[in-house]
Amino acid sequence: MVNIVLFGKPGAGKGTQAEFLKEKYNLTHISTGDVFRYNLKNGTELGKQAQVFIDKGELVPDALTIKMLQDEVEKNPDTKGFLFDGFPRTVAQADALDEFLKTKGWEVTATVALEADDEILVQRLLERGKTSGRADDQDENLIRNRYQEYNEKTAPLIEYYKGQGKFFAVNGIGEISEVTQRLSLIIDKL
Ligand code: C5P
Ligand code: MG
Repeated sequence: MVNIVLFGKPGAGKGTQAEFLKEKYNLTHISTGDVFRYNLKNGTELGKQAQVFIDKGELVPDALTIKMLQDEVEKNPDTKGFLFDGFPRTVAQADALDEFLKTKGWEVTATVALEADDEILVQRLLERGKTSGRADDQDENLIRNRYQEYNEKTAPLIEYYKGQGKFFAVNGIGEISEVTQRLSLIIDKL
């Protein structure tokens, strides 16, 4: 069992890299952002509850997000491992993930971060917004609020995972295949 947290600011390339890594390492990819968007699109109760936060570029309350993540994990009992993309985003989510995996005899193997400068990423998201159809990628104020949320609530996870000796980082800027290669060098050693 290998459980990898793919870490990084919005637009850092987590989803893009996950598409390659899940194939290469035979992992189950869970993107919490994608699961939220699926629920939004289908008008589920969860989608309705999450929408108010997503529309403001804020994080959805931990209780909702944690429950959703656990449900996704439970759907894949026979997997060789998970690639968590966009989760955890708060210390409370990280604690919940540790506890939840422990009940199954699993743990987070490593957290791998894609590093990039905010200003480059804001431009990337605005560019992505032209085709992604995501309202939260089209408004610079919303994008900046997502970075604010990241700095306040998500960045502390770097120290959290460093404290566990599980934090690794690569330069997230470059050709997609180059970045995959950088990530692979770390994952191959786990
Ligand atoms: O990961 P992604 O950028 O696709 O997430 C889109 C939005 O979903 C976030 O801005 C946030 O509102 C919500 N989200 C969240 N908590 C997570 C993942 C996503 O609140 N763990
Ligand atoms: Mg994503």
